[in-house]
Amino acid sequence: MKLLATLCLGLVLGLAASLPLADVTQGDEGVQEAPLPDRCDGLEFDAITPDEKGNTIFFKGAYLWNGFHGPAQLANELFKELDDDHHIGHVDAAFRMHDPDNHDDHDHVYFFLDDKVFSYYNQTLESGYPKAIQEDFPGVPSHLDSAVECPKQECATNSVLFFKGHDVHVFDLDTKQVKTKTWANLPVCTSALRWLEHYYCFHGHNFTRFNPVSGEVSAGAYPKDARNYFMKCPNFGHGGNYEIPKCSDVKLDAITTDDHGKTYFFAGPIYMRLDTHRDGLHAFPITRAWKEMTSGVDAVFSYTDKLYMIKGDQVYIFKSDAHHTLIEGYPKSVKEELGVEGPIDAAFLCPNKDTVHIIKGGHIYDINLLATPRAVTRDFPLPFSGVDAALCDADGVRVFKGPSYFLYETAFTLSTARIAPVAENITPAFMGCRE
Ligand SMILES: *[C@@H]1O[C@H](CO)[C@@H](O)[C@H](O)[C@H]1NC(C)=O
Ligand SMILES: *[C@@H]1O[C@H](CO)[C@@H](O)[C@H](O)[C@H]1NC(C)=O
Repeated sequence: MKLLATLCLGLVLGLAASLPLADVTQGDEGVQEAPLPDRCDGLEFDAITPDEKGNTIFFKGAYLWNGFHGPAQLANELFKELDDDHHIGHVDAAFRMHDPDNHDDHDHVYFFLDDKVFSYYNQTLESGYPKAIQEDFPGVPSHLDSAVECPKQECATNSVLFFKGHDVHVFDLDTKQVKTKTWANLPVCTSALRWLEHYYCFHGHNFTRFNPVSGEVSAGAYPKDARNYFMKCPNFGHGGNYEIPKCSDVKLDAITTDDHGKTYFFAGPIYMRLDTHRDGLHAFPITRAWKEMTSGVDAVFSYTDKLYMIKGDQVYIFKSDAHHTLIEGYPKSVKEELGVEGPIDAAFLCPNKDTVHIIKGGHIYDINLLATPRAVTRDFPLPFSGVDAALCDADGVRVFKGPSYFLYETAFTLSTARIAPVAENITPAFMGCRE
């Protein structure tokens, strides 16, 4: 639910409470009366993990912060058994399970306290927990410093990295084997987080991004101060707040899914990835990824590992690589590239097809991208005009207009439709907007 809420890594709306840092007692006396800690004072977290809904939870002593902004609260308000049985008052390590092959555990949140592990889902302790850590994770030591999930896209097999001092114990969830490595180059991580496919080691109030296989520190000026990225603090961060719109106010400019399954939507100066909802939805300036697109986009489609971005009567073609490199010779005019006059309203291409469908006014134009020169092969009238964006995926074709969309089975049923189907509303789950 964080549409337009995040700038850069994790700078979000809303002000954290500015209360003095508490001297957090770790017993069970007096905790209720202590003033709430303020993470903007620069504290060292005990553990950080996303939950099953994509909220990032930060732990310190008996407290937690639920999300990138907002005040602290007692951890046992959300996870009541953490303190009840053990009187420990702090979490050593936490991670969210990524094990889609084992649906019983997938997306459960695991907490480690001394020699015990707790498994939660929907803030409810699973039966049989707490357990000895080694019952679930044989070979993993007690009294951990931190833990982080590592899915097979990044670690070859679905794994969990457990940190203790400079040692990392890599637990393979399929074979239940542990490999221990020593990463002396990395600071001791008191908490670790995987966020939007990147890995962060937190130490003091700083963090360092690292490679989850080699332990190498990523290129860039690390360590960085967590207050500039993972929380909203006065006098920190990069500025530039965005409002989270109500779903009824959402208006897309463009939307597309690339060959790697990444879904981007564009609205005004921002874009958002919709396929990363496991880590929450976050908005970034378009120019952060595509620096040439300084005044937004009208339409976007993906074809052969490239992103075609159209603004006014110009087409920009970018490689779908990490650097979003603009292909030499671009921008070109829409007319020269696609054989239709710009500007256009929307464009979409269905998976594994070579025909792009351009929506302009009350018409839809088909253009075969294998032909040279490109030219309109078919032109159909649409049962409506004023289209904002369109997307074709396994569900069919969605045509967006203001805060609602029309769903068609195929591009052909859209082209031959004489009446618009019932409009469906954009929901918070789909776009991260407010109810
Ligand atoms: C989550 O827990 C709440 C309160 O315990 C319950 O009302 C709700 O149905 C649960 N949701 C799911 C999806 O299990
Ligand atoms: C945090 O990083 C700054 C800048 O690199 C460094 O001077 C400082 O010692 C670090 N502090 C901690 C607690 O890691």
